[in-house]
Amino acid sequence: MAVRFDVITLFPELFAPFQSVGVTRRAFETKAVDVRLWQLREFAEGVYRRVDDRPFGGGPGMVMLVEPLVRCLSAIRADQQAAAAPRLPVVLFSPAGKPLTQQRVQQLAEGPGAVLVCGRYEGIDQRFIDAHVDEEVSLGDYVLSGGELPALTLIDAVTRLQPGVLHDAASHEQDSFSDGLLDCPHYSRPEVLQGLAEGDDSGAPGAEAAVPPVLMSGHHAHIARWRREQQLRITAQRRPELIDAARARGELSKQDEHFLSQLTL
Ligand SMILES: C[S@@+](CC[C@H](N)C(=O)[O-])C[C@H]1O[C@@H](n2cnc3c(N)ncnc32)[C@H](O)[C@@H]1O
Repeated sequence: MAVRFDVITLFPELFAPFQSVGVTRRAFETKAVDVRLWQLREFAEGVYRRVDDRPFGGGPGMVMLVEPLVRCLSAIRADQQAAAAPRLPVVLFSPAGKPLTQQRVQQLAEGPGAVLVCGRYEGIDQRFIDAHVDEEVSLGDYVLSGGELPALTLIDAVTRLQPGVLHDAASHEQDSFSDGLLDCPHYSRPEVLQGLAEGDDSGAPGAEAAVPPVLMSGHHAHIARWRREQQLRITAQRRPELIDAARARGELSKQDEHFLSQLTL
């Protein structure tokens, strides 16, 4: 069964471009993922179909009302039941949530999916969170105007892990974080790049930039070792805490440790 995402949003139109380009388009066409968009306003009552109101206690901004959210979630539960889908956990996007990691993305990619709640305004009434939200997820320490970009981010990251979505199945296995380290540098043609010196518009040839020779050697073991060492070097320089975590998980070999001990940062 495809991973299913039920997205509660006031702006379903923001999801359309994502469904019509690139690998994510193919994933939707082949039904590798099943994304259902729920317009929250359809679950609001009254002539104006209000989904927000002023906060109790005063202060700026508006708060998303609990009742339309509950009605929308009930409709999603009924739809999931009708489709014999399991009861999916409810994920709310919030700056106060746990930062999204590749590890969490991988877990979600292997699971049945989730209900994704996109906040707007000052956020949503706490009573909905207390009663219905299983997990709060943050995209980082900054504030966006809504949860739609976080939802798109999560769906994209999960989608590219679905079998058959990427042309080369091995490609995500060497991505950053999949083995806990950052990715190594990549090179393609031309083998030697004849650059121009920066700021020189005379047309005179500048320094050549060559591809690291090991990549042209055809020696697979040497190439694999070089790539591993580049991963270790970049990760140690930029995200040393990821090296510590890999070490704690017992994922660094003696050869890795030797390379790291020789490294001047
Ligand atoms: C303007 S924000 C509300 C910010 C909230 N008053 C605060 O200070 O934490 C509106 C909505 O955008 C989403 N959002 C904003 N920044 C986010 C982040 N870093 N990670 C995940 N969701 C975020 C949340 O769904 C949030 O309810």
